[in-house]
Amino acid sequence: MRGLSKRFGANEVLKNISFEVADGEFCILLGPSGCGKSTLLRIIAGLEGPTDGEIAIDAQRVDHLAPRERDIAFVFQSYALYPHMTVFDNLAFALRLRRAGAVEITAKVTEAARLLEIQDLLERKPQALSGGQRQRVALGRAIVRQPKIFLFDEPLSNLDATLRAGMRVELARLHRRLRATIVYVTHDQAEALTLGEKIIVLNQGSIQQIGNASDIYRKPANTMVAGFVGSPRMNLLDGRLDDTGRHLDCGGFSIDLTPVLETALLRLAGDFLTIGVRPEHLRPTSEDQSWIRGEVDMVEDLGSDQFIYLHSGDIGLIARSGGQSLPQPGTIIGLQVAPSEVHLFRNGKRLEG
Ligand SMILES: Nc1ncnc2c1ncn2[C@@H]1O[C@H](COP(=O)(O)OP(=O)(O)OP(=O)(O)O)[C@@H](O)[C@H]1O
Ligand SMILES: [Mg+2]
Repeated sequence: MRGLSKRFGANEVLKNISFEVADGEFCILLGPSGCGKSTLLRIIAGLEGPTDGEIAIDAQRVDHLAPRERDIAFVFQSYALYPHMTVFDNLAFALRLRRAGAVEITAKVTEAARLLEIQDLLERKPQALSGGQRQRVALGRAIVRQPKIFLFDEPLSNLDATLRAGMRVELARLHRRLRATIVYVTHDQAEALTLGEKIIVLNQGSIQQIGNASDIYRKPANTMVAGFVGSPRMNLLDGRLDDTGRHLDCGGFSIDLTPVLETALLRLAGDFLTIGVRPEHLRPTSEDQSWIRGEVDMVEDLGSDQFIYLHSGDIGLIARSGGQSLPQPGTIIGLQVAPSEVHLFRNGKRLEG
């Protein structure tokens, strides 16, 4: 995609989008609701035309091609199975349309059914399937076509949490086996981090960052990515750096940065900064080592993890407990963070070094 934009009337929903997906890559489009993910996917498929820009597949421009000429399989969130057909016929549909022979059809359908573990369901109709089974049939319909590119639009969003986690693993395995080129839309950051070899973060129609899961999580390019990726979300403290480069003035409230910085930020004195710390890096500590103190509002015990929600002045914070003894709501606790775990942003953009 090069320099792609899309306008609906006066509303520009995609702005100057450029990126590449390598052959066989699992690429994720991640962003909040309404940021333009589905529109971008529909443009790749040819269901929607761009206002500006180019799209090429295998170095061939496809902008002028109709959807059926692009050799793309689209898996919609709604599955869109044919309700009156059996699973077998749903899977065979595209092959029959292509006038494939009976032997080829049986072979491809059987192979896809085996991959997806739905061999026993081939004679059933969609209404006799669970959501997860329907999901797999929808995937199977795309697989039998062996297209150049798979496009997935939030394919797991209708499933319950357990099934979704299971399907995630299955999709990753399927991708490895088929070496398929996939562009996959989701607003679920956990799904993006587990599945994506390349993650493209979108917000309000613009690309915020392109990278692998580790880049996106460890080096978010700006405060949007920092706040969107990671759960619970990163603590982001906004303020103005004072003249000493050691204190952040957060409107009537000053945070001493000395314990969290390797050196004073003299060159940034007077600038508006955002300090970012992930909850897992903000740990309860004894009084004399604490960087910031806060009053506990709530403790969330998830079994494997315990998160402490607290506030310091007007600032809400989330910390991860060490696990042993959980603080009671209403108590004051101290928190610490290692300087290496602190993210710094100036005017919303990541500062390196
Ligand atoms: N046909 C259309 N006419 C006018 N505006 C549209 C049209 N299709 C989409 N939009 C607008 O474009 C923006 C992006 O929509 P899109 O469906 O791409 O978002 P999305 O990222 O897929 O969101 P979600 O996660 O909720 O599915 C939205 O503001 C939407 O209202
Ligand atoms: Mg959408």
